[in-house]
Amino acid sequence: MKVSYIAIVIGLAVQSALAVPKFQPRRTSILINPDAQPDLPSPQNARLAGVTPANAGLNLNDIQGDILIGMKKKKELFFFFSINDAATFKSKLSSDIKSLITNTNQLLSVSTQPITAVNIAFSQAGLTALGVSDNLGDAGFQSGQFADAAKLGDAGTTNWVSGFAGTKIHGVFLLASDTVDNVNNELASLQSILGSSISEIHRVAGAARPGNEEGHEHFGFMDGISQPAVQGFTQNVLNGQATVAPGELLVGETGDSLQSSRPSWTTGGSFLVFRQLQQMVPEFNKYVANHALSVPGLTAQENEDLFGARLIGRWKSGAPIDLAPLRDDTDLANDNTRNNNFTFNHPEVPGFVFASNQTNCPFSAHIRKTRPRADLGSENTGHHIMRAGIPYGPEVTDAETSAQQSSTDPALERGLAFVAYQSNIAQGFEFMQEAWVNNANFIFGKTTPPGVDPIIGRAAGSAAETPRDISGTDPLTPTKKFSLDVEFVVSRGGEYFFSPPISALSGVLSA
Ligand code: HEM
Repeated sequence: MKVSYIAIVIGLAVQSALAVPKFQPRRTSILINPDAQPDLPSPQNARLAGVTPANAGLNLNDIQGDILIGMKKKKELFFFFSINDAATFKSKLSSDIKSLITNTNQLLSVSTQPITAVNIAFSQAGLTALGVSDNLGDAGFQSGQFADAAKLGDAGTTNWVSGFAGTKIHGVFLLASDTVDNVNNELASLQSILGSSISEIHRVAGAARPGNEEGHEHFGFMDGISQPAVQGFTQNVLNGQATVAPGELLVGETGDSLQSSRPSWTTGGSFLVFRQLQQMVPEFNKYVANHALSVPGLTAQENEDLFGARLIGRWKSGAPIDLAPLRDDTDLANDNTRNNNFTFNHPEVPGFVFASNQTNCPFSAHIRKTRPRADLGSENTGHHIMRAGIPYGPEVTDAETSAQQSSTDPALERGLAFVAYQSNIAQGFEFMQEAWVNNANFIFGKTTPPGVDPIIGRAAGSAAETPRDISGTDPLTPTKKFSLDVEFVVSRGGEYFFSPPISALSGVLSA
């Protein structure tokens, strides 16, 4: 009698546990998956990739979900906070908060995705506030992004959001879902768990752009196409995709040059660079329209589009101009086995001189400055990042379009919430921005100095109004200089963070 009573109680408990799952299974994904972007591995394939002999040990249940996923979120809120009461914060971090953090495996299948994915990362000031004195081995992270502003080419910090100025941000929550309501509900529950132990410093609400613009950044170009394939994670390496050792992105893993000196609790974490990059879309469009090329055989519109495409290195569709130099090719754009398969070199073309030929793609194009491919001989090593940003802010209004000018209304600010992951900021984002993007002589060894990257480049220390010269953009006269006298992208600042492995949340970080 007693035994069957217990059985009934257990049965009811099991039933009610089944009836009220931790979260309702999802029917739609948190992620977008445009044809132009690389696909994510299936959970089965990712597991297999994780046990190949060279990379055994990538623990995808411990690596936070945002790091290896790329630019694929539908909605994402970045909530920047300071810690007021470390003891309370730590007690919540090790329990309630840790249980909400989403790992990589969970994001790979719709059925295992939570309603809202939650990731967390800490600045150096945040680690210090938590009493963690370990040296993570990254100088940029240690001093914070504010100290780096001049080096990055920001025209002073006058355009910086006040919250980013200094080192007052201790951490950031990254909340991703398919609806704004889900994201906001998750934020409310985090805030109720943490109470007054934290204070909000700043927030940025990102969203994939609507309709056919999904996956495109605000200037209209498809983004997130060329991302590194990660050994131990990516199953099918696409043609032209750079393959990197996991340690180029993940601290303490194979290929991290500082692997042996990292604190052991950091293994599987990654440095997260956040930049709020405002985009002046009407100004960009106006500049492009005013500088339409005059390539024979193209219509006026095609010549205008070609100029814009030559600033980026890809058409708006995502098709690379190195393979489609005169007209857009949407079939090429949407075929991820072909849209990254180029090197800028064309030995098959009789008389092609690599040091001077910019017929297909200018040396200064954004994608060439940030990944020079054959310009460096072979694929560069050590300077890759995983981009995981998302557009923020509303679409351009009719009033802005007709004025050809961005509104000064803060509610209409738009841009890219830029996120880059790497195991070494000096070799990843910082190197790319400083040594390549902002260096007017890079790519070295070319007959005409390319100038800075037209999208995000600016010589360090130059004032906001200094025109930036680029060349190569006119295929008929590659030596012709264009003086970019408008800022297309304005840095509103950012911070450097460390996205720890989930296990550390109940270990060192809350000790
Ligand atoms: C508002 C600012 C930015 C805009 C509008 C922008 C836009 C784009 C676009 C349209 C692409 C081509 C699509 C693709 O290959 O994924 C691209 C690629 C890329 N961008 Fe940016 N980007 C911005 C900021 C940055 C920053 C700050 C960095 C790093 C310093 C960066 C690094 C890269 C890299 C590494 C690639 C891939 C190059 C390749 O592998 O071929 N971008 N970006």
